[in-house]
Amino acid sequence: MNFAGKTAVITGAASGIGLGLAHEAAHRGIRLILADRDEAALKEVASSLPDTLAIPTDVTDSVAVQALADRAFDHLGTVDLLFNNAGIMATGFTWEIEPARWDASLAVNVGGVLNGLRAFVPRMIAAGTPSRIVNTASVGGFGPSPLMSPYSATKFAVVALTEALKGELDMIGAPIAVSLLAPGPVRSAIFDDPFGGTAIHPATTQFVDTLRDMIATHGMDPQPFAAAVFDAIARGDYWIVPQPEALDPMLERRHRMIMDRTQPDFSLG
Ligand SMILES: NC(=O)c1ccc[n+]([C@@H]2O[C@H](COP(=O)([O-])OP(=O)(O)OC[C@H]3O[C@@H](n4cnc5c(N)ncnc54)[C@H](O)[C@@H]3O)[C@@H](O)[C@H]2O)c1
Repeated sequence: MNFAGKTAVITGAASGIGLGLAHEAAHRGIRLILADRDEAALKEVASSLPDTLAIPTDVTDSVAVQALADRAFDHLGTVDLLFNNAGIMATGFTWEIEPARWDASLAVNVGGVLNGLRAFVPRMIAAGTPSRIVNTASVGGFGPSPLMSPYSATKFAVVALTEALKGELDMIGAPIAVSLLAPGPVRSAIFDDPFGGTAIHPATTQFVDTLRDMIATHGMDPQPFAAAVFDAIARGDYWIVPQPEALDPMLERRHRMIMDRTQPDFSLG
């Protein structure tokens, strides 16, 4: 698939995976609108890429996301690719994580995707041209992890709502394809503020340190990761899993556990 001249909107584009997607999209000749709540970083990214407009947007703000969609269709004419990518981490014991952090996780990781769908899908349907929505979940959307239940719960939600969305768009014959992106470890800023300023148990600090080390050692760089994402889009893939080794063994174990009705046992890795 030749992406030259196509158009894309990417949320969470100022850092990590979104930044990698922006660079790869620009490299493939895509005209871009980048959105992020970090205005300064976003503007710096956009100014370094050709044919790219920065629209600072908080994806939890439905009015702002509607305005983003208005400006995107005005500026680009149509939106061929929508990446609902912005997301945040939250760690700690489920009952100890501050309500504000729980709310933020739900608002960004699920609400942000929903706001994107509410604002863009009607316009994409009206445009009537082939397009694709890529929602970023995580391998963590297929297997929960202790000490990050807001993340697990919200990423499970993205997996579920994305599949339902695909069914609905097929049902009405809309020319909009859907992909579920499930990254494994990718080097990014996602663990820069995983506690949201709340007091934490030592077990959580240790857990976060281990994950940070794992991402630093085994994490993929955002650029090759993004190249794999665009190759999958070119193939028309629904499941975009650039690191199957981070998903498949876990998925197999989990499905066996549920089919066998055995207890969740996180000591098994
Ligand atoms: N890095 C990984 O290992 C990994 C693994 C699985 C899934 N993911 C998912 O990939 C996506 C991108 O994460 P990342 O790792 O690149 O993290 P990141 O922190 O480097 O980038 C996330 C970007 O989203 C922006 N953002 C956060 N809240 C926002 C909001 N309310 N409105 C607009 N922008 C907002 C941040 O400012 C940041 O620029 C997330 O959905 C994350 O859950 C990441």
